[in-house]
Amino acid sequence: CGIVGYIGEQQAAPILLDGLEKLEYRGYDSAGMAIYNEGKIEVVKSKGRLKVLSELTHEGALLPGNLGVGHTRWATHGAPSDLNAHPHENTEETIAVVHNGIIENYLKLRERLEGKGYRFISDTDTEVVAHLLDYYYKGDPLEAITRIIHRVEGSYALGIIFKEHPEEFYAVRKDSPLIAGHAQGGNIIASDVPAVLKYTRDVYFIENEEIARLRKNDISFFNSDGEPLTKMSKKIDWDVDAAEKGGYEHFMLKEMYEQPKAITDTFSPRLKDGMIEIEELNMTEEEIKSIQKIMIVACGSAYHTGMTAKYVFEEMARIPVEVDVASEFRYRNPIITDNTLVMVISQSGETADTLAALREAKERGAKVLGVVNVVGSSIAREADGVMYTWAGPEIAVATTKAYSAQLIALYLLAMKMSQVRGTIDADQLTGMIEDLKSLPTQVEMLLENKKKIQKFANRYQAAEQIFFIGRGIDYAISQEGSLKLKEISYIHSEAYAAGELKHGTISLVEEGTLVVSVLTQEPLYKKMISNMEEVRTRGAFVMAVTVEGNLEAEKAADYVLYIPKTNEYFMNSLAIIPLQLFAYEIAVGRGCDVDKPRNLAKSVTVE
Ligand code: G6P
Repeated sequence: CGIVGYIGEQQAAPILLDGLEKLEYRGYDSAGMAIYNEGKIEVVKSKGRLKVLSELTHEGALLPGNLGVGHTRWATHGAPSDLNAHPHENTEETIAVVHNGIIENYLKLRERLEGKGYRFISDTDTEVVAHLLDYYYKGDPLEAITRIIHRVEGSYALGIIFKEHPEEFYAVRKDSPLIAGHAQGGNIIASDVPAVLKYTRDVYFIENEEIARLRKNDISFFNSDGEPLTKMSKKIDWDVDAAEKGGYEHFMLKEMYEQPKAITDTFSPRLKDGMIEIEELNMTEEEIKSIQKIMIVACGSAYHTGMTAKYVFEEMARIPVEVDVASEFRYRNPIITDNTLVMVISQSGETADTLAALREAKERGAKVLGVVNVVGSSIAREADGVMYTWAGPEIAVATTKAYSAQLIALYLLAMKMSQVRGTIDADQLTGMIEDLKSLPTQVEMLLENKKKIQKFANRYQAAEQIFFIGRGIDYAISQEGSLKLKEISYIHSEAYAAGELKHGTISLVEEGTLVVSVLTQEPLYKKMISNMEEVRTRGAFVMAVTVEGNLEAEKAADYVLYIPKTNEYFMNSLAIIPLQLFAYEIAVGRGCDVDKPRNLAKSVTVE
């Protein structure tokens, strides 16, 4: 989500709309504004893009006033709707709040507040903040805000207006970004730099649990106990276009660097007291135990996460898994019994083939679980249960962070089912949870290889074809690595099960052909090394992606990239990072339109 707030000499609404437009890349399923005017807080909000809000308010002209907060939403709790759109207010409409982030303990807070007679009208976690502020507010906004900081868990950037204090508004944040600066005869807050660049290049970065109070002529900062802080502003020297990408050259690169966060956001709400809890799974233990077959259906990269999941579910939970591309599934007369669980995986939740497969599966009586990134999307609505991946909005056509988040969601499901079915013991589960928690830092470390991979990629810019090989999970990783490369660089590429290459495709290997070999599964190292030797003796240049300590790989490879150790089931989450970087660097080197490759679309809504 994106938030903006303004107080000053100018009309607030047009400034908010302009700022929100620059933040639309952070989400765009609904938008709203709260403006203080003549003793009242006026709220206008609506489902749909910012354009809808702009039209509703006649570009802001229908909402006069010099103080306001605005929001563009990427739904987390509560589907996109007028009611769930921000701002949210307390019942008396004396406090208005816009929020970016996820309040993790909102259910508990909501129950407590309801017990005290508060009435909730939306499904959002944000509404809790409005009522909680109301509960603590005794005339001093600063005090109420310091109180909620100590009660609310999770992440937030908040913009808050108090009707009784029309000369000021407040902002506070934890783990969601927020900046403040001087603008247009007043002061402004925003989730990100692009929204303010038009007015100022001197920006205050609000730190975790810091509070900002904005008045027409000054911005003051306080710590979480309400004590005043002195802060220095920072000079921003980005150009406006780069700013929307947070300083990154492309959205794809930015999203690759957001992977540690996407991974954390996807697993952390589901880890509770050393156990895995997937509230939205909507299945009893009995139902989980009675699953006899899982059918995974998806397209593109989402299909590749399904390929990985097949290995994980079969080995860990001992449940047979079939994986289909969605466009094939529905026309092959699939055999669905009472105890078949169908899982559809989709970033957008709108892919026509996947949606059609979901409907087909439901018609045949299957229970369908969606693994979806876009809240309230068609697949999320039509599936019997939905597990969200919390990757945030993904703009680049070639998926990176949504893919990584899908993997995590699938690992969690596999772990949960294995635990219930008794195919893993408590120690194994604890070990896996620890490994899961280390993934974000390990991904961060792997992203630091960018320069090194760029150098290597430069040598292959003129390549006509590149092969990827792997076995087991590594075969699934190879498929995604190969798809990333071909979709953005236009170099022909194929991924092969390493043992299968010799049955035909090896005839394409020539002197100097690059063969990327993925070997992360220890029991398969030896076999992989034989396959690498096979292509090397036919002239291939072999690049290996393997696990630290597997020095054997160096004997059969010309170039080795190491990834850190983790549970074997989770290797995809690490091995894919260098492959994404490789695809990206080759595509940039060849001058391709990385974020919008030719002929492709982010969300394909035709069959
Ligand atoms: C399109 C995109 C792919 C994506 C696939 C599935 O083809 O270009 O990157 O993997 O659709 O999209 P979904 O939104 O269902 O995950």
